[in-house]
Amino acid sequence: MAKESGRNKIIETIGLSLQGNDEMILNSINLVLVRNSILGIIGPTGSGKTSFLRILNRLIEFDEGYRVSGSVLFENRDVFDPSVDLGELRRKIGMVFALPIPLPMSIRHNLTFGPKLAGVKNHAELNDLMECGLKAAHLWDEVKDRLNLSALKLSGGQQQRLCLARIIALKPEVILLDDPCSGLDPISTAKIEEAIINLKKEISFILVTNNTKQVARVADRAAFFLRGEMVEYNETKNLFTAPKDKRTEDYIAGRFG
Ligand SMILES: Nc1ncnc2c1ncn2[C@@H]1O[C@H](COP(=O)(O)OP(=O)(O)O)[C@@H](O)[C@H]1O
Ligand SMILES: [Mg+2]
Repeated sequence: MAKESGRNKIIETIGLSLQGNDEMILNSINLVLVRNSILGIIGPTGSGKTSFLRILNRLIEFDEGYRVSGSVLFENRDVFDPSVDLGELRRKIGMVFALPIPLPMSIRHNLTFGPKLAGVKNHAELNDLMECGLKAAHLWDEVKDRLNLSALKLSGGQQQRLCLARIIALKPEVILLDDPCSGLDPISTAKIEEAIINLKKEISFILVTNNTKQVARVADRAAFFLRGEMVEYNETKNLFTAPKDKRTEDYIAGRFG
């Protein structure tokens, strides 16, 4: 297992478990997200990947009948500490979901809505955040001449890049990507991959996907989840070329999925 030094860790989970209504969803996960890197998490459907992400910025609290144990440290501070400001936590750890869900308003307003809520009032600053977000998400050239168009008129791939742009405009520290390209065309998929590789000098990413090839292409480190357990974590190339666990080897070879 790759060892990470203290100040390089932006997120660390220690013995993190999630008990659902009648099943254990995650079982004692110890995992590190290194600052300015991309951590890929692979694993079949139902292995707990989405649940893991939803604990990190406490979105899990929208659910009922679950119990989290163990800890999640974000910048060395427990996210479950009562003094944590939830709005700030979720702004600093943003999430992009599998299905793009733009706000039913213009492209421009999709980008400025979050910053306005966070207190940005200055027009030039809002425009700047919008433009930077759209550029970073590789969408600017396609929409710069029609910023007042409804976001719902964009293609699925453009909508997903818009959702990424919207999160970037909030200046997060971490972005959690939950199978962000599952329904996308290859061109939009490539643009998203390129965008996150360029952005990692400023933002740290966790990319969850069933698409092992995508993780092999973009992630610095990778983890394999199976039935709520983290089976293996390593540098991406080691995990793919020399898996230590037979289950990892079988999964990446496509023997089950
Ligand atoms: N809100 C919930 N209530 C009860 N069980 C859930 C809930 N969300 C997920 N689960 C269960 O947790 C397990 C892991 O699901 P999930 O985290 O969505 O996995 P993945 O993203 O890897 O497909 C599954 O068995 C699923 O049925
Ligand atoms: Mg999922």
